[in-house]
Formats: sequence, structure tokens, C-alpha cells
Amino acid sequence: MTTSDIGALIAAAGDHVRHDRTLPAEMYTSAEFFATESRWVFQKSWVPVCRVPDLLAAGAGYTPKVVCGVEVVVTVDEGQRIRVFLNVCRHRGMLLADRPQQGKKLVCGYHRWSYRLDGEPAGLPLVSREVDRARCRLHPVRHETWQGWLFVNLAGDARSLTDEISGLHEVVDDVGLPTMLTAASREFVSTWNWKVMWENYNEFYHHLGTHRDTLEPLLPAATASTLDNHGEAWSCTTVPCTEQYLSMQPLTDHRRTPDMALFSVFPLLCAGWQPGSAFWMEIIPEDVVRHKVVWHLLVPPERMDDPKLETEITRVMDGLGAIHDEDMKSCTLVQRGLSSALNTSGNLTELDKPISQMHRWLVGLLEHLSKDDPSCGGSGRQRSA
Ligand code: FES
Ligand SMILES: [Fe+2]
Repeated sequence: MTTSDIGALIAAAGDHVRHDRTLPAEMYTSAEFFATESRWVFQKSWVPVCRVPDLLAAGAGYTPKVVCGVEVVVTVDEGQRIRVFLNVCRHRGMLLADRPQQGKKLVCGYHRWSYRLDGEPAGLPLVSREVDRARCRLHPVRHETWQGWLFVNLAGDARSLTDEISGLHEVVDDVGLPTMLTAASREFVSTWNWKVMWENYNEFYHHLGTHRDTLEPLLPAATASTLDNHGEAWSCTTVPCTEQYLSMQPLTDHRRTPDMALFSVFPLLCAGWQPGSAFWMEIIPEDVVRHKVVWHLLVPPERMDDPKLETEITRVMDGLGAIHDEDMKSCTLVQRGLSSALNTSGNLTELDKPISQMHRWLVGLLEHLSKDDPSCGGSGRQRSA
């Protein structure tokens, strides 16, 4: 696929979005389009890295993460200040940290350059005093925290995250997310495009088919309702939990409103809550048809010392794994359909509203960026401020 093909694909996607059609299949199958998506969508928007309460609970130290192919390291100093840097030594580029560790310094294993948790060089063994230390600071990565998640904007030029999702604040405000801790995590490998996973996660409509005998009787598709996002970078769909569903959930807090909600901060945060617990599905894109999914179960901090918690967590994670297995079968078949020759675009309905919202955001961002990028069929002219 040439760069002008990418430009044409984005133009076609704009037309599809305006006519409630699904995105062109090449956006799920083309390696070249995935490269564009990585550079523009993942790097220029806000993507989640990890949970802040987990970082703070671990104390001063650092945690390496790979975010959309970029190696970063998150540091927490003794005053609980969080910073994010590229996880690359400023000497000759070796990866600095390969595992989380407590302590006050990062030390490169190659020639022992070391860095403080604020990114300043701490020691450059045998290096002349003439060398400008300021040039040897770790490269900072822009970050913000929201509802307990640490987000980064790798390109560093996005609008503030809180502005991008202003309407979502009041929706999630009383859920207690900012202090919730990760109680368990489970990883799955996915051999389909990340958008197939996102789309599957964010609508309840597929309970009718994929989860016909499991979730549909408990959380019926017909009872779901999606909020208007007013064109912002988020979606949120709620469904009332049936009594039967609540009675089967070991972590249920019966004092809370019996609704389940799934929400997303576009493009990669997929999260949700139900009375007594919350969860997020971390999507780690690797290539056009491969990503990792890590399901994280979040619980309020006061539950962490509960002796029954471990048994309850095992039940929840086993249930979640069984549902995810059902989803994986559907996602495999969706990717196969999208990859089929002669496939044409499908039709989105009001039951696919979160997907329409995400597609509009995605295509809007691509159209905006492609206008200024001659490598993508754009004019290359700068917009006036
Ligand atoms: S590459 Fe890190 S000290 Fe040389
Ligand atoms: Fe599902």
C-alpha cells in the first residue's frame, strides 16, 4: 500500500463514517495502515500505561513498560511524585530497566551510567567533567493521571487529557476508581486487529450471539444504553445488573447502584465497573493482527486485607476467562471475515453506538493529521493557528 493509498483509505473511511458504514477492511488488515495508526493514533493521543495506586503501593523505584512499541520507564520518588521517561540510556542507547525495582537510582548495565528518579544523571563513570550533564538527562515523556490510570502522550502534543474527555468525569466520579488496586491480572494473546477487540469489548449487543447462554440472560443486550459523548474521545455504555447476576458476583457491594458500565478513553483504555469492583482490559498492540490483552481486576483498597478475597478473585478471574474465551472465538471469525476477498463494508446500527463514536473520533484524527502530511496524500500546508 503506497502513501497515496493510505490517504485514499482515510478519505474512504471518512465517507463510511458519515454514512454509518463500518470502516474499510484494510484498516484491520494492512500492515502499512497499522504503521500509520501507530505513528498518528497511538503516539498522538493519550494511552494508558498502568495504575497509579499500584505504583504508589510499591514505593520509590521504577517500572519499565512497553507502550505501543515505545520503551518507557515510570519512576516514583520518595515524595510519591510520578515521572515517565524513555527507557533508553543517554550514553549509547541501551535499554535501562528490564524489570520493576525499588530504589533511588537507575543504573545502565553497559557502562554503569546512572540516573536519579527525576531523570538527572547521577554518575557517569570516568567521563570528563567537560561533558555537559544537561545533555545526559533521561528523555521525559508527557503524562497525566486520570481516575487512577497513568496515561502518556508519546508525541507530546495532544490536548490535555482532561479536556479530551471532559464529559466522562461526572459519569465515573463517584465510582471510587482513583484508589482501586489491582487484585489480579491475566494475559491473553490475540491474533486479530486491536480494533476488533475494542469493538467487541465496548458493546453489549453481542451478548445475543457470542454469550447467548452465559451473559445474555444476566445482562441482556436490549437493556444497554450508550451515553452521548458530544464528539469527545470516550464512550460509556451501561446496563442494569439483574439480581441473578449480582448474586453470582462474589465481589458485589450491595450498597452501590446495580449497574454495570463499560467505558473507553479512545483509543486504548477499555475499562468498566460493577457494584464492588472494576476492571480494565489493557490492549498492547504488536502488529496489525496481533496484540496482547491483559485483564486486570480492581478492588477498593479496604478489600485487600479481606481473608476471603483470594478465593473470590479466583472465581471472578475464572469467570472472566471463560467469557473472554467466548469473545476470542468471535474475534477470530470477525478478523477472518474482514480478511476475506471481496468483503465490503458493513452497517452500523444504534446498538453499535460506542463503535460509531470511536470510529468518528479515529477517522477525524486521521483526517486532521493527513491534511498536513504530504507523506499521506495531504497538501503539507500548515494550518493557521
Ligand atoms: S549505554 Fe548505558 S552506560 Fe553506556
Ligand atoms: Fe463479550
